[in-house]
Amino acid sequence: MATMTKKLGNNDLADVMFNRHSVRDFDPAVKIDRDEIQEMLSEAATAPSACNLQSWHFVVIDTPEAKEKFKKAVMPFNYPQVDKASAIVFIAGDTQSHLVYRDVWNKVYKDGNITKERLDQILGTFLPLYEKATPEFLKFDATMDCSIVGAQLLLIARAHGYDANAFSGIDFEHMIPTLGLDPKRFVPIMGIALGKAASEPLHTQRYDTKTQTEFL
Ligand SMILES: Cc1cc2nc3c(=O)[nH]c(=O)nc-3n(C[C@H](O)[C@H](O)[C@H](O)COP(=O)(O)O)c2cc1C
Repeated sequence: MATMTKKLGNNDLADVMFNRHSVRDFDPAVKIDRDEIQEMLSEAATAPSACNLQSWHFVVIDTPEAKEKFKKAVMPFNYPQVDKASAIVFIAGDTQSHLVYRDVWNKVYKDGNITKERLDQILGTFLPLYEKATPEFLKFDATMDCSIVGAQLLLIARAHGYDANAFSGIDFEHMIPTLGLDPKRFVPIMGIALGKAASEPLHTQRYDTKTQTEFL
């Protein structure tokens, strides 16, 4: 994780977080190379996830041809950011992430970070839960994981000097097949348009969280 931190252009969390705005007007001349996109995805994927299932799958759309294909399942009001962004990362939820669940915990065990007993306990507790889960449960779980990784991607993009817009104004029924993914396995969550702002974005407002908070 330390090596990741070193590469960040902007390590000022307050600036990254509080000066983030949804950017929809991107400079179309700016390209983000695929290695850097992959790096940002690896950094975003440090996000927590339910049982560490990491139920996310990223589809990167960064060519004019891919954008045209992608737009078939995007609502027209989101075309401007799709057309001008350097890249769009579409985040899909993977409802079969538990099928490779052993791999990630075996790595933790091989690194010497847990005992064999703890490994068996984790796999014995969580695997049956997911193997017996309903499709609704798996979809809900994947949606939460993807939302968190998406939030991290919005911030890590700023740390790399880029701007972003999360969007879910899409055709939920057709997005997964449009991307060439298996609709029995993947669920559509959101797109994240990445690039550099071409104009000052709208500064939005928030409700007073006191109106949204209760202490039990
Ligand atoms: C789940 C989700 C879906 C969104 N969908 C869209 C969308 O389809 N199109 C769009 O332009 N912005 C979309 N947004 C961006 C919001 O409009 C924006 O975050 C909100 O207005 C607050 O503005 P800010 O991001 O500048 O703080 C979405 C954001 C989230 C988190």
